[in-house]
Amino acid sequence: MKYHIVVYGCQMNISDAERVSAILESINYKKTPEMNGADLVVVTMCSIRQSAVDRVHGLVEKFKTIKKSNPKFKAILTGCILKKDKNKFFKGFDYIVDIREIKKLPEILGVKKSQKIDNYLDIIPKYSSKFSAHVPIMTGCNNFCAYCVVPYAREREVSRSAEEIIAEIKNLIKKDYKEIWLLGQNVNSYKSKDINFPKLLKMVNDIPGDFWVRFTSSHPKDFNSEVIDALAIGGKISPYLNLPIQSGDDKVLKSMNRHYTVKEYKNKIKELRDKIPDICLSTDIIVGFPGETKKQFNNTAKLFRDVEYDMVYINKYSTRAGTAAAKLKDNISTAEKKEREKILTAILKETALEKNKKFLGTESVVLIDGKSKDNWIGKNEHYKTVQVKSAKNLLGKFVKVKITEALIWSLKGEVIK
Ligand code: 5AD
Ligand code: SF4
Repeated sequence: MKYHIVVYGCQMNISDAERVSAILESINYKKTPEMNGADLVVVTMCSIRQSAVDRVHGLVEKFKTIKKSNPKFKAILTGCILKKDKNKFFKGFDYIVDIREIKKLPEILGVKKSQKIDNYLDIIPKYSSKFSAHVPIMTGCNNFCAYCVVPYAREREVSRSAEEIIAEIKNLIKKDYKEIWLLGQNVNSYKSKDINFPKLLKMVNDIPGDFWVRFTSSHPKDFNSEVIDALAIGGKISPYLNLPIQSGDDKVLKSMNRHYTVKEYKNKIKELRDKIPDICLSTDIIVGFPGETKKQFNNTAKLFRDVEYDMVYINKYSTRAGTAAAKLKDNISTAEKKEREKILTAILKETALEKNKKFLGTESVVLIDGKSKDNWIGKNEHYKTVQVKSAKNLLGKFVKVKITEALIWSLKGEVIK
């Protein structure tokens, strides 16, 4: 039997899909890159934006055509699903399976009894990369930011035991993995027995081997001195942090239910940069949150200039039914949201280029993860994209590079022999 998997959304969904693959392959399903010809399609959906949900509606139409030529064809929906969408997708899919219940897939497919695993994160995944692995440490979210569906789609926080996490990583390092991403909706609230996130970071850092540790995502309210001190140890921990601020205005932050002020956020960044001067910093922003005035938006622009980010993921607000913000009027027009995004992007382009220029003439280690035309492409310790030329196959390798050119979104360099 052949299966095809469709993944939408974040690294967590990629990781979940790797667990789905492991279960299906344990019951002799073989992966196929094409949907046509598959006996089973599993969709790991994302609900963060309506556009991602709409893509699943599009797939349902395709399934109808496939079913005509293969009556045995089955489609399963899992991932981040909202209750209201479950009802809508009921007809389009043969089964809708809660991501925390995917161990039941064999039983659902009528093959054999399910595995006895309490926490689905403990399923050993079928990794999609041979050198970079996603290792979930917690899932779910207790924060209920006003705009966000995650707490409804993924339910409350559950942390994985530190023993399981360390065992999985040790196994990966034995297989020569070079990069470990610790994943969670809010890694800073990781807690298993007496082990919190900083302690876990130290435990991972202590595993012998030549590899990097990165993590996502962090919530500023839980990002404290203890985490900063753990990052400052350096070692295998990457000098890169994504700390989503979402808005540079206190009133907007309050209506977003974020539980910190701009000043508190900036103080944390100051402490971080004092202790780790070379840290590279990115953030997530939402423009056009309901009621965001021009003046409030300008506070976000000011924050951009003050903090000088290396990278920012700018999102235009989209209403998500069932969230607290859905009760507020989405009163900022699409054109205005685009304009605000444009203004922030222009500031980011300046700061990103300035930050990149600091790497000129320096040496970086780059983990090569792909190729584009003649260039090998990878990320350095600081999570900067670096391009190099080489006739050798560098995929999945750590390469020492001298940085020769700084562009806005990437660096160029030469491999050091
Ligand atoms: N509209 C726009 N952006 C959103 N995000 C989450 N929910 C929404 C929404 N309703 C963004 C946030 C978060 C990132 C993963 O997605 O910036 O950090
Ligand atoms: Fe969503 Fe906020 Fe939880 Fe992040 S912390 S997943 S933005 S509710």
